[in-house]
Amino acid sequence: MPSPRTASPKLQEAMDDVSNAVNRTIERLLPETDLPEDLLYDAMRHGTLGGGKRLRPFLAIQSAFLFNVNSVRARRVAAAIEFVHCYSLIHDDLPAMDNALLRRGKPTVHKQYSDATAILAGDALLTLAFEILGDRETHADPNVRCSLIRSLAEAAGGRGMVGGQMLDLIGEKEEFDLGTISRLQRMKTGVLIAFACESGAILGRANDVHRRALRNFAFDLGLAFQVTDDILDVEADPQDTGKDTQKDTEAGKATFVSAMGKEAARSRAKMLVAQATRHLNVFEGRADMLKEMAEYVLARRA
Ligand code: IPE
Ligand code: IPE
Ligand code: MG
Ligand code: MG
Ligand code: MG
Repeated sequence: MPSPRTASPKLQEAMDDVSNAVNRTIERLLPETDLPEDLLYDAMRHGTLGGGKRLRPFLAIQSAFLFNVNSVRARRVAAAIEFVHCYSLIHDDLPAMDNALLRRGKPTVHKQYSDATAILAGDALLTLAFEILGDRETHADPNVRCSLIRSLAEAAGGRGMVGGQMLDLIGEKEEFDLGTISRLQRMKTGVLIAFACESGAILGRANDVHRRALRNFAFDLGLAFQVTDDILDVEADPQDTGKDTQKDTEAGKATFVSAMGKEAARSRAKMLVAQATRHLNVFEGRADMLKEMAEYVLARRA
């Protein structure tokens, strides 16, 4: 099936629904106050509201839907994952990392506020994510809450996203083979996407077959997502992506594009998405929205 350049009306509607729901949840979780430290919350709101594709919330909410999870619970988990993602972007953009000035079509948090405020806003978002998962409102069963917390910690930490970011920086100076690049990409991007997909299964206390199917789907999708991010860096328009392009080549990053060229990277991403969606066949049509999203990941311009 050729990849659509834009989302189908049905997928677009589902994506808009998720964006609206997650925005409302985030606004409730980050209310404005007149406390003297509210500058921190301003920066957190700047980094989380008003933009972003909300891919991870979409995956979390759609996976929760497969197991008839209560929508308030699913939205809280979706917001927690988006907070971890936004914290990672705020820190990723810092001068000491990718040194980026534009994010989601706006000045990056450190540009708008200060480096120190951006570091603190990231720290506070990461911590808040775990506070949300540990709250009774997210799930009545403490075992489910613990499982969510443990899985997110594994995905976000040194053996996951943060470790991947370390490899990404080392890769600016060292030659990496394709196996190492693929590990880097899965760690920095894939594992959080995998947690998003698996979170619905955790919330819904799904059986192992279903949980594994979602995890396997996400494993390939996460890598395909980062490969397309790397392709967009070399060929997209900042008007579409809302962030500066040509950053990876400038910094000498190790990506699929630098290792195998744009066209081979595109074919690899395509192959990964085809592999990813096959894992969803166990849901017999009920996961079609996830399949459509996977196709869209390939074709996106932002
Ligand atoms: C950008 O992620 C960073 C990567 C992990 C590739 P997204 O492309 O999902 O960014 P937003 O959330 O839409 O801004
Ligand atoms: C960011 O990867 C990954 C994380 C923030 C964990 P990139 O550095 O490629 O993301 P962009 O291109 O700045 O969005
Ligand atoms: Mg980076
Ligand atoms: Mg970056
Ligand atoms: Mg990038």
